[in-house]
Amino acid sequence: MSPAKSETDSLKQTAADWAVRELDTGMVVGLGSGSTAKLAVDAIGRRITSGLRIVGIPTSERTANQARGLGIPLSTLGEHPEIDATIDGADEVEIGTLNLIKGGGGNHLREKIVASASSRLVIAVDESKMVSHLGDRAKVPVEVAQFGWQTTAHKLKNLHCAPILRLDSEGKPFVTDGGNFILDCAFGRIGDAKALAGELDSIVGVIEHGLFIGLTALVVIGTSTGVKRLDRKSPWI
Ligand code: A5P
Repeated sequence: MSPAKSETDSLKQTAADWAVRELDTGMVVGLGSGSTAKLAVDAIGRRITSGLRIVGIPTSERTANQARGLGIPLSTLGEHPEIDATIDGADEVEIGTLNLIKGGGGNHLREKIVASASSRLVIAVDESKMVSHLGDRAKVPVEVAQFGWQTTAHKLKNLHCAPILRLDSEGKPFVTDGGNFILDCAFGRIGDAKALAGELDSIVGVIEHGLFIGLTALVVIGTSTGVKRLDRKSPWI
């Protein structure tokens, strides 16, 4: 493992550990997906061993398997339609709005459903994820129905992006937990993320996109000089 990677991992670890401090016994907790959320779920597992009592709602099959292995009790949105707090990662966090790009791991449909059911969405990231404008680095993942995905891709092109069908490690189309494909869309710098989200929402064949607008309550950032917290009321570094 390169030194740079190990430093990023340790910033993710710090952010994840601090985010998990937001949890208290009795909460229904959304469990995010991705490498930072995985560290947070590990930290929740450690707190369960020390006596924390929560019920988890996982955002992916992978997270569900991890949580089961750690003895974290799991439930469903059917049993718990309202979630107290969700801890998740992000691909980009926009300073000033706390809007997000998510879905690098392909789980943003379930992540967004869980986030929208949550009183408090806590995002844990290392400092490399903080951007002044969404789209500066990350593509926007768009989950689409397999049926007619080429037509959906054509409509996305009309929004001035270059959709690329996501492939798995064998070179086959990546299939989400929901059985759909993902088109990764490079928009470049996004001037009005809310307007773009609305345009994406209106395309037939789009199941869900990775723009998370107005959902974040708190961002916990692992930085080389310590942990920083940005919340809705003070979203500036
Ligand atoms: C999963 O689909 C994503 O939304 C992740 O939350 C996001 O990609 C961040 O992942 P990392 O913590 O692995 O960077």
